[in-house]
Amino acid sequence: MRVPVLFRVLSLVHSINQGMAIRTMYRYAYFEPGGPEKLEIRSQELPTTVKDKHVLIKVFSTAVNRADTLQRKGFYPPPPGESEILGLEAAGVVDKLGPNCSDRWKKGDRVMALLAGGGYAEYATVHEDLLLNVPSNLNLTEAGGIPEVWLTAYQLLFFVGNVQPGDIVLIHAGASGVGTAAIQLTRHAGATPLITAGSSAKIQTALDLGASKGFNYKDGDFSKAVLEATNGRGVDVILDCVGASFYEQNIDSIATDGRWVLYGLMGGGSINADIFSKLLRKRVSLLATLLRSRSREYKKKLINSFTEQILPLFERGELKLTIDRILPFDKVAEAHKLMESNTNTGKIILKVHEEIQSNLTQHEEL
Ligand SMILES: NC(=O)c1ccc[n+]([C@@H]2O[C@H](COP(=O)([O-])OP(=O)(O)OC[C@H]3O[C@@H](n4cnc5c(N)ncnc54)[C@H](OP(=O)(O)O)[C@@H]3O)[C@@H](O)[C@H]2O)c1
Ligand SMILES: *[C@@H]1O[C@H](CO)[C@@H](O)[C@H](O)[C@H]1NC(C)=O
Ligand SMILES: *[C@@H]1O[C@H](CO)[C@@H](O)[C@H](O)[C@H]1NC(C)=O
Ligand SMILES: *[C@@H]1O[C@H](CO)[C@@H](O)[C@H](O)[C@H]1NC(C)=O
Repeated sequence: MRVPVLFRVLSLVHSINQGMAIRTMYRYAYFEPGGPEKLEIRSQELPTTVKDKHVLIKVFSTAVNRADTLQRKGFYPPPPGESEILGLEAAGVVDKLGPNCSDRWKKGDRVMALLAGGGYAEYATVHEDLLLNVPSNLNLTEAGGIPEVWLTAYQLLFFVGNVQPGDIVLIHAGASGVGTAAIQLTRHAGATPLITAGSSAKIQTALDLGASKGFNYKDGDFSKAVLEATNGRGVDVILDCVGASFYEQNIDSIATDGRWVLYGLMGGGSINADIFSKLLRKRVSLLATLLRSRSREYKKKLINSFTEQILPLFERGELKLTIDRILPFDKVAEAHKLMESNTNTGKIILKVHEEIQSNLTQHEEL
C-alpha cells in the first residue's frame, strides 16, 4: 500500500512543478573543442531579463548544420556578442518579450528563428526581426529545420546568384540540407537544377525533388556530363559548397558570363593552379558569401523577402522540407556523428520539447 501512495504524492508534486513552478534552469548542449563525444547536455540559469527588442523563445526543436560541426571542433567561433551555444536555427513559441518590442509578436506565437548561435537549448533569445511565422501546416518539430538552410538557399539563388527564369543552375551536395531546398527554389523560379551527389540514392532524392539531372561525382569528372546536358554551353550558376576539389570541373562546367557562388569549403580551400586566366576567359563572376556574419539589416531584408515569396508555398504544400531523421535532444553527439559521416539526406532535427497535439495545451509551460 505504501508504495503506490508515495508514488501518487510524488507525481502530484511533479505535476505541480511541471505546470506551475517558475522555471529558473534550462538545458543546453555544452561542448569543449573536439569530436562529437565532447557534446553533452548541461543546465544553466535562465536569464531573468530579455534584451532590448529581443524575444525569449521556448525551443521545441533545433537542427544540425555543417557550421555547427566546425564550431564544435573550435574552427568557427560565433560573431562577437552572440551566444557561445551551438545552433543556427530553432522553432518554438514566444515565451517573453523584451523591452521596446513592436506588436508583431505576442506570447504563445509559433515562430522560427534564424540564429547566430544558441539554438541547441531549451530557451533561446533572438532579435524580433529575425523571427518568422511557422506555416500553419507544419508542426514545431519539423519547423526547426527550415530557417538556416532555406534562407541560405534563398540567399544564394536570389540575393547573390541573381537566378533568372531559364537559367541552368548546378547545385553541389544535392541531397544536403541546403541542396534539397535549393533544388525546389530553383524550380520555383523557372530555372533548371542539375545536381551532384555521392550516391545513387541521394541522386534519386534530388530527382524526386525536381532536379533535372544528377551526377555522381565519385564516378569521375562531372563536367563532361554537365556540358552534355547543356548542349556544350555550360551552366549559368553554380552553387558551390565544395571548393578546392571541384574547382577545375566547375570552371569547365560554367558558361561564359556564369556566376560561381562559393558558400562552403567541404572539399578544401587551397589550390595551386592558374585559375584566374580561366575565369577571365569565360568572364566568370566569383561570388563568395556567408550568412551568419551578415548584418541584422541584411538578415531582416532576407527574412522579409522569404516570408513574402516563399512561406506561402509551404502553406500550400508546394515546398517540402526533407528530413533525414528526428532525434531527441540528448542524442546531440550522435546527430553530429551522423552529419560528419555524410550519410544524411536532408535535415537532422533535434527535438527539444515535446509538442502536445491539442492546440489548447501546446503553448502552456511543460
Ligand atoms: N555560406 C553560408 O552562409 C552557408 C550556410 C549554410 C550552409 N553552408 C554550407 O552548405 C554546405 C551544406 O550544408 P548542410 O548543412 O546542408 O550539409 P549536409 O546536409 O550535412 O550535407 C553535406 C553533404 O555534402 C557532401 N559532401 C561532404 N563532403 C564533400 C566533399 N568533400 N565533396 C563533395 N561533397 C561532399 C556529402 O554528401 P555526398 O554523399 O553527396 O558526398 C554530405 O552529406 C556546407 O558546406 C555548409 O558549410 C553555408
Ligand atoms: C527603449 O528605447 C528607447 C528609445 O530608443 C531607449 O532610450 C531605451 O533605453 C530602450 N529601453 C531599454 C530597456 O533598452
Ligand atoms: C511533426 O512532424 C514530424 C515530421 O513530419 C512527425 O514525425 C511528427 O510526428 C509530428 N509531430 C506531431 C506532434 O504531430
Ligand atoms: C484548435 O484551434 C482552433 C482554432 O483556433 C479551434 O477552433 C479548435 O477548437 C481548437 N481545437 C482544440 C482541440 O483545442
